[in-house]
Amino acid sequence: MARVPLSIVVLAAGKGTRMKNGRPKVLHPLAGWPLIRHVLATARRLEPDRLVVVLAPNMAEVEAEVRAFAPEAGIVVQVPALGTGHAVAVARPELAATGSVLVLYGDTPLLATETLARLLAERERTDSAVAVLGFRPHDPSGYGRLRFADGELVELVEERHADPELKAVGSCNSGVMAFDAARLRILLDSLPLRPEKNEYYLTDTVALAAGRGWSCRAVEATAIEGLGVNSQRQLAELERLWQERRRGELLDEGVVMPAPETVFLASDCVVEPGAVLEPYVVLGPGTRVEAGAVVHPFSHLEGAVVEAGAAVGPFARLRPGTVLESGARVGNFVEVKATRLGKGAKANHLTYLGDATVGPGANIGAGTITCNYDGIAKHRTEIGAAAFVGSNTALVAPVRIGPGAIVAAGSTITRDVPEEALAIARGQQENKAGRAAEIRSRLRRKAAERGRP
Ligand code: UD1
Ligand code: CA
Repeated sequence: MARVPLSIVVLAAGKGTRMKNGRPKVLHPLAGWPLIRHVLATARRLEPDRLVVVLAPNMAEVEAEVRAFAPEAGIVVQVPALGTGHAVAVARPELAATGSVLVLYGDTPLLATETLARLLAERERTDSAVAVLGFRPHDPSGYGRLRFADGELVELVEERHADPELKAVGSCNSGVMAFDAARLRILLDSLPLRPEKNEYYLTDTVALAAGRGWSCRAVEATAIEGLGVNSQRQLAELERLWQERRRGELLDEGVVMPAPETVFLASDCVVEPGAVLEPYVVLGPGTRVEAGAVVHPFSHLEGAVVEAGAAVGPFARLRPGTVLESGARVGNFVEVKATRLGKGAKANHLTYLGDATVGPGANIGAGTITCNYDGIAKHRTEIGAAAFVGSNTALVAPVRIGPGAIVAAGSTITRDVPEEALAIARGQQENKAGRAAEIRSRLRRKAAERGRP
């Protein structure tokens, strides 16, 4: 069967005043991604012919996010914001004239692509004017309810207008609705302005369609998929649910996580089956942990790749651009940024490696610092294969340590060290025989003088 054209509208013009921090609601992060990116990612997986995002004026940041993540999306600006029905009406010129129109809300990020596909299929199969995605959340307060008569969906009732019985038994409106494009036009043209909020409600399309004798259908989603974010409290709750769901998926795929409830993941993290994430690990955006790699407790990774057999932590921080090749090891209180550690290279304690390459088998002693920043620009440090950098060394970049070279502990290295050379760059030590007793008696004498009245 040839697919009918699919247009998707994402509504994101709401001010999000209930978030109480002045930021556009859809930019608030969930699992390291702005809310709207979750919705756009889901929308794109449906391969729509048209994708349109409705924004309010002065939402440059949201617009930049849409253009960066979904450059194919059209952007329309809704002025003034007169409700969800009005928002779709504003987007109408950008939509295909036939086929299906799917409306998503920028503040509803947990939807599964398969659920949306099921909703679209149901609308198309029954040739209905509207198909609504209902769900039964743990706490239904704030959601509109689906009202059925003789088994047919006949109305969406906003919570404030719902009677106690409907509130108690009704399935909730996720806000996700699929329309027949041609009939949507007619419905939008006849939406009433609701005086209580001075808005056109998209939800009113259902009663209008039913009134014309057009079929309306409902499809049920899981209890969490339709959850929207209106407040900080709900955002935190969705973060919890997102994390719980993702950890479950990774466990099912074979990731080892003895205390999954303490592990935090970002949307685009890749964790391969057989990787080990020990308790209290945070994986930020752009992280990849391969099979057989181990991340020990209390480590924070972002934009880092940990290859098979590499180990991180406990108490390590890997920042963007870090790559640990197989068998590499980064230990406690080590920070790594934009640095590649070759196979079997080690930085086990109290070290900063920034803008560096560390050759295979090299050993970086405790307290080593790459001095990569001169206050104006960043510079690189190259450490050759099997080099040994002694403890408490400052490597003042740009600088190269040749393969197999040894740097003596406590050195401040400002010039390149040739292959296989020994570099010592520190003050000379002098030992003065017997001087300890002499110093002690002088110190005691002074102390006694101070003690006299
Ligand atoms: C809406 C639904 C409610 C449903 C709930 C699901 C209506 C009238 N009510 O209520 O039945 O249970 O979502 O989460 O639709 N927006 C615009 N332009 C506007 C107004 C809103 O683009 O003029 C966007 C918002 O940015 C948001 C979405 O539409 O992404 C929903 O708006 P919101 O104010 O959050 O609606 P709810 O009160 O949650
Ligand atoms: Ca909402």
